[in-house]
Amino acid sequence: QHDLVSVSDLSEADVLHKIRLAQLFQAGKTVRLQRPTFAMNLFFENSTRTHTSFEMAERKLGMQVLQFVADGSSVTKGETLGDTIKTIQAIGVDVAVIRHPENEYYQSLLADDLDISIVNGGDGSGQHPSQSLLDMMTIYQEFGTFKDLNITIVGDLNHSRVARSNMALLTRLGAHVSFAGPEQWYNAEFEQYGNYTTIDEAAENADVMMLLRVQKERLGTELRDFDEASYHQKFGLTKERYARLKPTAIIMHPAPVNRGIEIDSSLVEKPQSRIFKQMENGVFIRMAILTDVLVVKGLINPAEIKGE
Ligand code: CP
Repeated sequence: QHDLVSVSDLSEADVLHKIRLAQLFQAGKTVRLQRPTFAMNLFFENSTRTHTSFEMAERKLGMQVLQFVADGSSVTKGETLGDTIKTIQAIGVDVAVIRHPENEYYQSLLADDLDISIVNGGDGSGQHPSQSLLDMMTIYQEFGTFKDLNITIVGDLNHSRVARSNMALLTRLGAHVSFAGPEQWYNAEFEQYGNYTTIDEAAENADVMMLLRVQKERLGTELRDFDEASYHQKFGLTKERYARLKPTAIIMHPAPVNRGIEIDSSLVEKPQSRIFKQMENGVFIRMAILTDVLVVKGLINPAEIKGE
């Protein structure tokens, strides 16, 4: 794809191709750029993992990375996102990775049919396709398939772009998705992807327990009544629930983790946790995402990834 903004852009074949390519990068594969190639990562919301691992991926591919700091940019003078992107395109940037608080901010950019490629690093509560792909890679490395896996997504569903991306992609790939957490955070939008269950049932049945961060910054008035200890006991992965997981089950979390809220702090580094593995995979899947974009742009010879 010239752009990657949503998991709706990805077929099953696309996902498997990107996982295979990411695994080759993990094993040390390199590619050659046809000319000096420039990336800019424009983050209008805070990030540690997505921002850093895109930059790592860009540098590992040999791209040159131009710095962008939203607070120091002309966005503070009222310049629109569209004009910002057209500006960096004019300056010579090939790929823009963008995180933005507005859902589907990318629609107006795509409508402009720009030469610069847009890669979505997360939009509001909408989509987080690179996180979803690194999650798929982590699950595939563990089980070698998605078919008939029981995957429970637990927690702050309403605010989560990770949940929205993963529920759509996992069902497309043949997994059985279910949801747990406060019932008021499970709404009609999710019914097409899976049923509501409890974390206690999930602890017994899940192959993958995918925990979500409670996004306190987006809870609004709900934050007043939010009690961390009570949430942990009712909806969190406690030590008792961890002890009941299937021995083959894995724990995932996109992070940052609220230790002691959605997961007992001592479980983050336990053998069944893949939380840091997800972060490691993030670099290689982002190399694969960028490579596919650069092939479409004629900046990497397709022969370099032929058969993958
Ligand atoms: N998982 C994730 O998107 O983390 P960051 O917000 O740190 O990028």
